[in-house]
Amino acid sequence: MSILISNQQNPTWWQNAIGYQIYPKSFFDSNHDGIGDIQGIISKMPYIKSLGVNFVWLSPFFASPNIDNGYDVSDYQAIDPQYGTLDDIFEMIDQFHQNNIRVVFDLVINHTSDQHHWFKEAKKSVDNPYHDFYIWRKPVNGSVPNNWVSLFGGSAWEYNPATKDYYYHLFAKQQPDLNWENPKVHQAVAKIIDWWAERGVDGFRLDAISHLKKNQRFKDVTNQEDAMNNVSGIDQLLANLSTDFKRNHLMTVGEAGGVPVEQAKRWVDSKKGYFDMIFQFDHVSFWEKFTVGKVDVAKLRVALTRWQNGLDNNGWNALFLENHDLPRAVSYFGNDQKFRSQSATALAMMYFLMKGTPFIYQGQELGMTNVDFNDINQFRDLDSQRFYREELTKGASPEETLVKLRDNARTPMQWNDQPNGGFSDHQPWISSNPNARYINVANEVKQPDSVLNFYRQLIHLRLKDPILLNGQYQLIETHDHQSFVYQREENHVGYLVITNLSDQPATVTISDRYQNRQLVLTNTTEKQQSSTMALKPWAAYLYKYERN
Ligand code: GLC
Ligand code: CA
Repeated sequence: MSILISNQQNPTWWQNAIGYQIYPKSFFDSNHDGIGDIQGIISKMPYIKSLGVNFVWLSPFFASPNIDNGYDVSDYQAIDPQYGTLDDIFEMIDQFHQNNIRVVFDLVINHTSDQHHWFKEAKKSVDNPYHDFYIWRKPVNGSVPNNWVSLFGGSAWEYNPATKDYYYHLFAKQQPDLNWENPKVHQAVAKIIDWWAERGVDGFRLDAISHLKKNQRFKDVTNQEDAMNNVSGIDQLLANLSTDFKRNHLMTVGEAGGVPVEQAKRWVDSKKGYFDMIFQFDHVSFWEKFTVGKVDVAKLRVALTRWQNGLDNNGWNALFLENHDLPRAVSYFGNDQKFRSQSATALAMMYFLMKGTPFIYQGQELGMTNVDFNDINQFRDLDSQRFYREELTKGASPEETLVKLRDNARTPMQWNDQPNGGFSDHQPWISSNPNARYINVANEVKQPDSVLNFYRQLIHLRLKDPILLNGQYQLIETHDHQSFVYQREENHVGYLVITNLSDQPATVTISDRYQNRQLVLTNTTEKQQSSTMALKPWAAYLYKYERN
């Protein structure tokens, strides 16, 4: 196998790069069983290449009982047969590299599957050498050790009769958490990291990494986060772990919800940080509390600007709107009915040109929407089922709840207007979105003003002009609940991004300093040269300017 890419010689390659997230189960089915697979990804290489992205992040395809769609790994060095073989993976890495696209895997090391051999051993007896790989507590008053709860509902503790104690699971009970207080856990994981690095992997997305440390007092908590999120002492664990990535010249992006920016500065510090980037969730956390389509743009500006300013000169942002855990952005931020392609493109311009590395989740580049299943049984995800039941018990309606489920983003990629959106000629594991009839790659490739072609232009611009790489971010305050305006500037030359993120017309007035501006990209046909701009719903403008 040839490894064509040297990360050692270009250690910050990921800064001037665009990432594309692939959800293998839903990307493309090459062997007609309704499940996406590795050969399917390989066969779509020309499409991925045509986007102009520089690296892919693949959600897990490792051996797994699939309680949580592969985020429950039973063997980190084996491939789930439904996706293919190890040889397929090696071929895929090689193909990506030949196309000059780097490859980032998903490393799920907060927990394993309960079918991992470490756990199968661990639960046999307290003397088993693997027992201490997991987190165990004795019963208290004949019941669970404390009031800690699982993010997937219910107590975080599960009783194991053979050892007469409870193990801890932050997610499903089939996902026992590893005990990172035990140095042997780190040693075992380090071997896995080295093994994949030797096989050409260029980096990792680190699943649930802010949960690695648990509160060692194991007492009841009032705020559940105090038990398991960003617990004091985590820095030391992460610093130790980061040596494995540095030794192998691997890029890392940590999933780190609930880590405030002041602290994130330490996590991604360009010299002493543990990771290259983190995914923060401040800007997407509104949706749980929000009615769809009613995101408060003023709050969005504040959240994103806090991260832009907070990591300026002191780290690097990972920019994203979508992933496999969130509904489709055009449906919850945008308007997937009346203004689908306008809102998809305005949202795209808004986040994509900030300072940082943009990530695109498969189908986002088409403006794929939530699915209009009206029955919870059409959804597959375990946590979606649980969330739905809980919300309905609390009095929520089915309609307002279904649109919040993460399976909305996991329906098959929409390739063409054929059955199942061209994803498979077999009934897919989760039904395809009926709107694949008109929202699909084949269609959008042909239409010059499609969401897909807008993304391609953004990608091209972002990679071509160093101002969009290095230029200072500055919010232009508009004091409204509709628009998001900012500039990226370096040495008096800059870009001005103007977006109306609402269903209503908006007016923004910009300073005379931008008088000599040139239109670079827009999703409308209206020309705007004066300093007071009347913006149609979801209008987006990108200008380049030179300051006098
Ligand atoms: C991360 C993953 C999510 C998974 C969870 C547990 O949040 O993105 O899909 O359910 O970790 O592994
Ligand atoms: Ca398949």
